[in-house]
Amino acid sequence: MTDTSRQRRAETNLVHGGTMRSGFGETSEALFLTQSFVYDSAEQAEARFQGDEPGFIYSRFSNPTIKMLEDRLCLLEGAEACRVTASGMAAVTASMLCCLSAGDHVVAARALFGSCRYVVEDLLPRFGIQTTLVDGRDLDAWKAARQPNTKVFFLETPSNPTLEVIDLQAVADIAHDVGAKLFVDNVFATPLFQRPMDFGADVVIYSATKHMDGQGRCLAGAVLASEEWISDNLHNFLRQTGPSLSPFNAWVILKSLETFALRVNQQTDNAEKLVDLLAEHGNITRVFYPHRADHPDHAVASRQMERGGNLIAFEVAGDKAEAFAFLNRLEIIKISNNLGDAKSLITHPSTTTHQRLEEQDRLALGIKQNLLRLSVGLEHADDLWDDLSEALG
Ligand SMILES: Cc1ncc(COP(=O)(O)O)c(C=O)c1O
Repeated sequence: MTDTSRQRRAETNLVHGGTMRSGFGETSEALFLTQSFVYDSAEQAEARFQGDEPGFIYSRFSNPTIKMLEDRLCLLEGAEACRVTASGMAAVTASMLCCLSAGDHVVAARALFGSCRYVVEDLLPRFGIQTTLVDGRDLDAWKAARQPNTKVFFLETPSNPTLEVIDLQAVADIAHDVGAKLFVDNVFATPLFQRPMDFGADVVIYSATKHMDGQGRCLAGAVLASEEWISDNLHNFLRQTGPSLSPFNAWVILKSLETFALRVNQQTDNAEKLVDLLAEHGNITRVFYPHRADHPDHAVASRQMERGGNLIAFEVAGDKAEAFAFLNRLEIIKISNNLGDAKSLITHPSTTTHQRLEEQDRLALGIKQNLLRLSVGLEHADDLWDDLSEALG
């Protein structure tokens, strides 16, 4: 990567960033669907393994298509280094396990995606890593939870599904005070609207399955951090344990990134229109959208997010029965736990993404039986509103 390309705007980097052309001079990024690479000589193989000569060795840990995706994501995030993985959860798990050992301590925000809660609450303690969950918006709670052995602070903002917004700079300062690193799952905001490293985050994690693919095809994950952190921690962990992304899936996501800004901006335009209409509807009791003035964390959201994104949460009048009846009446908007897709998708978090939590834990997170999470897609906003308003009655 050159300094010149780093100064280009996101839209340009999304189209050109990281592209490496083969000797054929292809326009579109090439798909290197190969497991391994051949060497001109035994000496060259030895030099590659010793790290004395640059070049690819084996696709479990290095591949030209994968490298193009990693370099493009670095430019988008403004990060020094990136590694991609087979899924978002592989990215979360690897970024934790690569740098933590028995006897370490992690503080995490309570409002996490269900599988991230599993990693923090169930998996890490099995290996002797202590964890504490806090209300992510309560800065005193982060301070109080710190211990001399705290190594990682982990949060997502906006959170899944209630779109709580956490003050990244304040939490980063509290973590750094005790030498801990701040890990941010930035899936909901996307790197287009929020760059956590600008607010002190050390490690940024994505499910590239979501907006980056954005067309419902491939699972993928990404971890971005400093060159030093990646080479000291993540690189070797991924190389030896192998949660690798297929070059085919990396290629699909590379091509998708070309339209990422167009898609995410249009989805956000649609979300802004719909959330205002939903807020005024008689059968909706509450809406949650970070860039609306009635959002409890609106001040923080306006400071650290350029736009509110394409996710909306709302409560329908009634309970689970009314929420289910509404979902079952929708025609254009599909019932699915996924998000970030070109298709509008809606889910009932209590019985899907967060079903593994106890009801009292869900309620502590504001996940009531009448709460729904809508990922707004690329359909015409008027058609989406017709669908929502007809289903609401
Ligand atoms: C906030 C968040 N983090 C992580 C993940 C995990 O990503 P993946 O499904 O790609 O493993 C998801 C969604 O599944 C998510 O919504």
